[in-house]
Amino acid sequence: MHDGPGSKRGFLYVAAVLVIFMQAGFWSARRKTQDVFPDTSLVPKAPNFLSLIQGQSKTTIKEHPIPKLMAEAEIQFRERISRQSKTLAQAVAEYKKRFKRDPPRGFDDWWKFVQDNGVLMVDEYNAITEDLEPFWSLTPGEFRERASLAGHLPSIDLVKVRGGEGKAVNIKDGLDNPDGVSARAKGFLLMIEKFQDKLPDMDFAINAMAEGRILVPWEHRQYPNLTEGALAAQLSGQYSPDWRGEGNVWEAFRRTCEPGSPARHLFSSTRASTSTSTQARLSQLDAHSDEVTFARNVQGNFSYCRNPWAHYSQGHFFSDWRTIPVLFPIFSPAKASGYLDIRVPSHYYHGQTRRYTYGWDPVNLELHPVDHMETPWELKSDKVFWRGASTGGGSSPPGFAGQYQRHRLVRMASDQSAINRTILFADPPGSPTYAFTEVATAALNKEVMDVAFVKLVDAFNFPGGFEALLRDHRFDEGGVNLGDHWKHKYLVDVDGMGYSGRFFSFLESDSAVLKATVYREFFEEWIQPWLHYIPLSPTYHEIYNIHAFFSGGTESTLHAANSTALSLPPAQRKSVDGDRRLRRIARAGKQWKRTLGRRVDMEAYVYRLCLEYARLWSDDRDSMNFTL
Ligand SMILES: *[C@@H]1O[C@H](CO)[C@@H](O)[C@H](O)[C@H]1NC(C)=O
Ligand SMILES: *[C@@H]1O[C@H](CO)[C@@H](O)[C@H](O)[C@H]1NC(C)=O
Ligand SMILES: *[C@@H]1O[C@H](CO)[C@@H](O)[C@H](O)[C@H]1NC(C)=O
Ligand SMILES: *[C@@H]1O[C@H](CO)[C@@H](O)[C@H](O)[C@H]1NC(C)=O
Repeated sequence: MHDGPGSKRGFLYVAAVLVIFMQAGFWSARRKTQDVFPDTSLVPKAPNFLSLIQGQSKTTIKEHPIPKLMAEAEIQFRERISRQSKTLAQAVAEYKKRFKRDPPRGFDDWWKFVQDNGVLMVDEYNAITEDLEPFWSLTPGEFRERASLAGHLPSIDLVKVRGGEGKAVNIKDGLDNPDGVSARAKGFLLMIEKFQDKLPDMDFAINAMAEGRILVPWEHRQYPNLTEGALAAQLSGQYSPDWRGEGNVWEAFRRTCEPGSPARHLFSSTRASTSTSTQARLSQLDAHSDEVTFARNVQGNFSYCRNPWAHYSQGHFFSDWRTIPVLFPIFSPAKASGYLDIRVPSHYYHGQTRRYTYGWDPVNLELHPVDHMETPWELKSDKVFWRGASTGGGSSPPGFAGQYQRHRLVRMASDQSAINRTILFADPPGSPTYAFTEVATAALNKEVMDVAFVKLVDAFNFPGGFEALLRDHRFDEGGVNLGDHWKHKYLVDVDGMGYSGRFFSFLESDSAVLKATVYREFFEEWIQPWLHYIPLSPTYHEIYNIHAFFSGGTESTLHAANSTALSLPPAQRKSVDGDRRLRRIARAGKQWKRTLGRRVDMEAYVYRLCLEYARLWSDDRDSMNFTL
């Protein structure tokens, strides 16, 4: 291929067409233009479209963005599944192409394991390479030392493989202690059970908590030798597991950002809560903006370094647990952006429990393909359902719980105000014409949302205390079982103190999942938003329009628009096509869990991770390569 001026012009042309295509393809229909969470993962704005709707009380459009997002998701997923390697030789070639090195020793055994177990994703393990990459800068000796030292830190257990057998210990007073080992370390032992006999002797430091642990300052990542002092401090015995007022997660996080990035400026990051711009942006989280914008993915890669104001909206940054500023190899179920934990599947996904496993019969200890509380689709309510405790953060520093992810969700759904939301719905139902109308929040919440706290905790952390918490947030004293969720078509999944351990059970149910998260987990390259679940923006505001697309305009929406559909019997006002599409997402999620989210798929992930880890552990890393 020659690279003359002609071909360059051709390239520019293609790029321009692509930009236009993207805007047309993933547009957002918005009345208000505030940039809440400016992120490329949000659907880009289409200015020409905006001009169409601004200043008019009612306008219609011919194409809703959701079918396009769904069609695209399906194509992407099919393409990814079908391009997976079919032979060991192909898998080795693909590995070398992606990672510019040989696969680790034992890759042929791993290949046999995935073939024998029908594992479908055999190439998508970028997450392992990404998580382990920083450790290549340590010598094998340093690496082993840090793995073993990590076991002395609070809430970290060691899984030791010796002679092909794993054992979990908790180090107390410098001695291995088999008691008090965390559920996560025990879960990890179960994940390596089938292949531990193929692993060399080594130690894995397993995080006992849901929260990520490792936040290494940017300067220390560039110059690993700077960490010696920090390492000594970690082990000096002065270390307490919680912050005790000496710092907080946000202070530790912003040091991981590049110098010069907004989060590194003291004023924009710490004093921002009092500045007008941050107040204005935060109040937008409660305002009714961005209602007809749809997220393309969850926010695992959102940059809080560039958008420091946004950290107030996630309880994650207010966790009471002290983070660790040194590059220790620590295995965690999830990590937010900036963290250097090594991801492993959650023990809630791999294990089987009453609270986290779909179809689990805790009496007979049996797994059933259909949960005994599962409800036929036709009998499920059309409501958006969520229940949980008023946790989801911490109190370091205290007083910020009002903006945490769970509180915002419950408050949004509890809003009884007359303030209007912009709703886009098919008018008349089933037609390809979509109309905008303004509908009162109180009416929508009554018709669409079934969201409540079931437990009020840490009220001291909420501005105004217990009374204010109770006033602005619906509280359902009834409590909830996992199986109660299956009575509803729409299940919301949001973060708690860490990632949400309920996600896999929600997927496996016959309901559709709407998910918002700031965490990245091991399966992110295996799953497809808009095919297996519906991704939610951090503001959740588009929930009403997601509902309007799949279930059709509600009674109050039809009234607000004076729709001709009001003359139809209620059953005919529903969106038949929308309901079918929602059911397809519910089914695709179930299918995903049964074909890509099985226990053995998680084991395949951990197996490959262990081989990579063993190579880093070895004094002669080159001898731990696999070549055909
Ligand atoms: C760390 O390494 C850099 C170069 O890699 C060197 O210039 C610097 O002196 C070292 N610092 C310490 C404290 O050893
Ligand atoms: C984050 O970025 C990585 C690397 O580009 C990508 O593989 C992953 O899917 C992204 N995750 C999310 C949740 O967007
Ligand atoms: C909401 O919209 C309706 C219909 O457009 C309008 O009559 C009403 O005044 C609006 N209410 C508010 C509080 O803006
Ligand atoms: C609603 O629509 C009907 C006919 O479809 C019309 O007669 C009536 O005036 C409309 N009402 C309002 C408030 O626009």
